[in-house]
Amino acid sequence: MDLDSLREASRLSPDNTPLLKLLAQAELAALNLENARRTLDALQSAAPSDPWLAQGREELDRMCAKLTGLDQPSSTNQEVPSHPPLVRLPASGNPHPIRSAPTDLSDIDALLADVERKHGSRPQVTFADVGGLESVKEDIRKRILHPLLHPDMYREYGRAAGGGLLLYGPPGCGKSLLAKAIAGEISARWMEVGIHEILDMWMGNSEKNLHALFQKAREQAPCVLYFDEIDALAADRHDMRRSAGRTTINQFLSELDGSTASNEGVLVFGATNSPWHLDPAFRRPGRFDRILFAPPPDEAGREAILQIQLRNRPLAPLDFRKLAKKSEGFSGADLKSVVERACDVVLSESIRSGKPPALISTAHLLDALAKTTPSTKSWFETARNYALHANHDGQYDEILVHLGLRK
Ligand SMILES: Nc1ncnc2c1ncn2[C@@H]1O[C@H](COP(=O)(O)OP(=O)(O)O)[C@@H](O)[C@H]1O
Ligand SMILES: [Mg+2]
Repeated sequence: MDLDSLREASRLSPDNTPLLKLLAQAELAALNLENARRTLDALQSAAPSDPWLAQGREELDRMCAKLTGLDQPSSTNQEVPSHPPLVRLPASGNPHPIRSAPTDLSDIDALLADVERKHGSRPQVTFADVGGLESVKEDIRKRILHPLLHPDMYREYGRAAGGGLLLYGPPGCGKSLLAKAIAGEISARWMEVGIHEILDMWMGNSEKNLHALFQKAREQAPCVLYFDEIDALAADRHDMRRSAGRTTINQFLSELDGSTASNEGVLVFGATNSPWHLDPAFRRPGRFDRILFAPPPDEAGREAILQIQLRNRPLAPLDFRKLAKKSEGFSGADLKSVVERACDVVLSESIRSGKPPALISTAHLLDALAKTTPSTKSWFETARNYALHANHDGQYDEILVHLGLRK
């Protein structure tokens, strides 16, 4: 939606806070600061506790400061006014009007700062924190970590280390965790970006943002650049509203191809729950040509995940085998919530009885298991159809194997 339509929509439903937020973001992105301040005020009265408000205000202040700074010689030690004047229009007689205000002024900085604040670190997690997925981990060791740790050896054979890897599978089965652990294994930097952050947050600047993100990752190589919900970017036009425009997609692909700058030492990961919505252009050689399926954990995997999730909690001796047997179809995230549920029960029992909390027992966990619905089944209902009827080049063979439909 463009700025005018957003404004019109917001005029028609003035209390729609998500819309107000979008409008404010669009106005900020367009450096339409006067209006952005007004929209932020409206958002403030409609939803005073919205966590984004502070960020929006900060952004506005920063842009104002930057814009006013443009006209000031940087050497003078002028005090910054507490309420910096807004964009000065040519009509004000300003000798240096801010013409078409530069769109790349601070939006990219803000996005990068945000990514950095949230993630730009070297993760402490390693493969030891990922339960199950043994063959996937092995595959990653061979195909990704080894080349990255021994680039010279691979260069001799004309193979570059780095490149793209696509992780797919049902939600909550460890795609994000695994990608982060890969960064941890090789002490690489970790940058996680939700595609919607790029598409929604800074409307109209997606291409520049993408380029800046890739540059940042290149600067800090070795680096894992992780794009969550990559299908939103590369949506096969099934959902135009959420899908990015062609120029954004092309920008992403050319960054991935390394045609703007070398991606040596940058691992680009994409994760998706819906690989079938991904534009085939993303799978071409040199792009996401390595594809890994992160399946729901098998029995041994579930046991390992429970061990990990129960680490450092007060435990009675537990029958992990039994718990793993009883949790068929549970994802790692489901198991995590089972553990949390069991802990809550133990804690509320202790509050009720006034005694110190008891140890978490097998019975507590079995009870929590029974109250939790495993989440992976519905994903397979959809996946099965694609694997049976749209399995080009055998790309979903692993799903068929998992379902026992193929050896
Ligand atoms: N294999 C696993 N081992 C340990 N914990 C897991 C595993 N899979 C999922 N989890 C738990 O569930 C959470 C969500 O998983 P996540 O990696 O975000 O799944 P996905 O990205 O596939 O949707 C993780 O942060 C972790 O706590
Ligand atoms: Mg995830």
